[in-house]
Amino acid sequence: MKKGVIIAVVVIIGVVLAVVFVPNPVEERVRQELKARGYLEYTPEEAVKLAYTRCTTCHSEEKMLKYCSRCGPPFIVVVHYMKKYIDIAQKKGTVDVKQLTDAEAIAIIQVWNAMVGNWEGDWRKKDLKKLLENDVALIEFLDVPVEKRPIEMALRGRTAPGAYRYQQEGL
Ligand code: HEC
Repeated sequence: MKKGVIIAVVVIIGVVLAVVFVPNPVEERVRQELKARGYLEYTPEEAVKLAYTRCTTCHSEEKMLKYCSRCGPPFIVVVHYMKKYIDIAQKKGTVDVKQLTDAEAIAIIQVWNAMVGNWEGDWRKKDLKKLLENDVALIEFLDVPVEKRPIEMALRGRTAPGAYRYQQEGL
């Protein structure tokens, strides 16, 4: 009888430890959801993975890698436009693609800014804000200096393989 109680207690402790310490898919999904909603920060590595996954649903990564300051507005504006393409795609039902949350968009902008290029400074803020239309989260993010953007700072200097800048520098 006593032995039975001890075994039961050990089993219960074991189960509790397993739930707490073994990463499980449900917990991981919850964590990702919290990050997407901005309650938890993306690590730089997670942000890179997110950027490569979410931005290659409709076109290849070449679109980002070959993008450059002569090609068009900075990534913050590009991402705003991509959100529109996602809306259109969802309405058409052509590709199965989820809309970007504000936190996802902001993490992704920092990744391409750092690894391909950030030319927000070449543009007048007023013009960029106009291009961002009513995208409040991105308009606010535009005012965050690069030094205060954790992901962009962490990835600064790392160039995405295949990026236009990469070839320009002859690396
Ligand atoms: C819903 C589909 C879709 C998704 C998702 C998507 N794009 Fe695009 N993207 C397009 C379309 C459509 C174009 C314009 C047509 C083209 O150039 O092929 C485009 C073009 C681009 C261009 C070239 C713009 C130019 O002016 O040359 C860049 C850069 C780009 N996308 C970056 C991104 C980034 C960064 C992401 C991730 C946030 C992303 N895309 C996600 C549909 C998408």
